Amino acid sequence: MAKTTGKAKTVYVCSECGNESPKWVGQCPACGAWNSFSEEVVQPEKPNPTVSLPPLHRQTPKRLHEIDAENEARTTTGISELDRVLGGGIVKGSLILVSGEPGIGKSTILLQMCMKMKDMRILYVSGEESPRQIKLRADRVGTYPENLFLLSETDVSTVVEQTETMAPDLLVVDSIQTMFRRDMTSAPGSVPQVRECTSELMRLAKEKEIPTFVVSHVNKEGAIAGPKVMEHMVDAVLYFEGERSSDHRILRSIKNRFGSTNEIGVFEMTEQGLREIPNPSELFLLDKPENVSGIATLCVMEGTRPIVAEVQTLVTKTPFPSPRRTAVGFDYQRLNLILAVLERRCGLFFGASDVYVNVVGGLRLDEPAADLGVAVAMVSAVKDFVLPEKTMFIGEIGLAGELRAVSNVEKRINEAASLGFTRCIIPARNRPKGNFSAEIVPAYSIKDVLNKI
Ligand code: TYD
Ligand code: MG
Repeated sequence: MAKTTGKAKTVYVCSECGNESPKWVGQCPACGAWNSFSEEVVQPEKPNPTVSLPPLHRQTPKRLHEIDAENEARTTTGISELDRVLGGGIVKGSLILVSGEPGIGKSTILLQMCMKMKDMRILYVSGEESPRQIKLRADRVGTYPENLFLLSETDVSTVVEQTETMAPDLLVVDSIQTMFRRDMTSAPGSVPQVRECTSELMRLAKEKEIPTFVVSHVNKEGAIAGPKVMEHMVDAVLYFEGERSSDHRILRSIKNRFGSTNEIGVFEMTEQGLREIPNPSELFLLDKPENVSGIATLCVMEGTRPIVAEVQTLVTKTPFPSPRRTAVGFDYQRLNLILAVLERRCGLFFGASDVYVNVVGGLRLDEPAADLGVAVAMVSAVKDFVLPEKTMFIGEIGLAGELRAVSNVEKRINEAASLGFTRCIIPARNRPKGNFSAEIVPAYSIKDVLNKI
């Protein structure tokens, strides 16, 4: 925050990332967001009377081996997909941000979690809904626990006070954009308010060792401060994603001080709240069209879990000189690379065609092992032939057109076999160990794969 002395000063703050500028700018130079700057008045900093007081527990440096890691014990949330994303459960005193677009299900998953953690005293603070509204939602999703307390409040100091009085085992604040500090002039949801309220809750979580979940909305219009403003402060950031048109929801961790950020949790929004999908491959393969060109199945690792996904491609002739390349759920640069390899190493021509790639079910393929599936889907689309049924394509493609080895190939094959796939085309360098119920077809290059299918 800009240092000021004397009188109040006006600055412009990016609602996406919190970057400050003395003048209004159309595009944020730090994060590239458009139209995200809004005016904020920065009050001169007053001396904080609490700072000069001696801290309650003065800390002294400790030897590494003296530190007791026992208090890192995790509490399970009762929702195993959520536990997985958190890295095994909730760590004491951690501040966890749950963000996503409005209406995606953030309040629902947190309420469901609270209702499952029956042994804990929980305080659920909502600045958006009245206790009655929350109760109506609770009626839909489960049975009431004895120790769940609701509080409708937007003043963060009252929240802190109530939490200190009640001393719950878990605190939920829904949402940070509705919270405000009375001593600040800016509106709730503005960058300074969100930042200050988060650090207040952070202090509370650390001092009292109360694990805290904080909801944050992602707003495309940039009128309210986005989660990026808080990401650096909190211990974990979970993103709840999904398309409005479908019921699938994916919970992804993009930062986790206490676990891996690779894991995803998969849910389905039903009439009775969110349902866990322990075997997501089945979901992503549902309604797979038959006898259509341009469709391939592949297997990616999401953390420790193999997930089978379907990729759909469409290649259409275009009269325009610069053809379109559109990728949903797949990296755009990677798509261009694969197209270049197919052109140079397999003699296929995409220069006069638009290419569309879509990964079904809102999944994002971040792993190079998905290359082969995407490549064969595009070959199938451009040549208009249907790929063989029940065949899985696994492999990373190099610039020479060679198939490069992938990690965890046995896990991927077993996942495919368990879903009824009878053939797995894999990089020849992989040499998987063990007996598999699916036929293993090793291949050296993308050209080799095209000869073998
Ligand atoms: P909500 O958790 O309120 O979203 P957020 O807190 O992220 O804004 O979820 C709202 C949506 O979920 C709403 O469109 C209704 C739907 N929903 C169901 O389909 N089934 C349910 O059991 C519940 C509680 C909500
Ligand atoms: Mg909500």
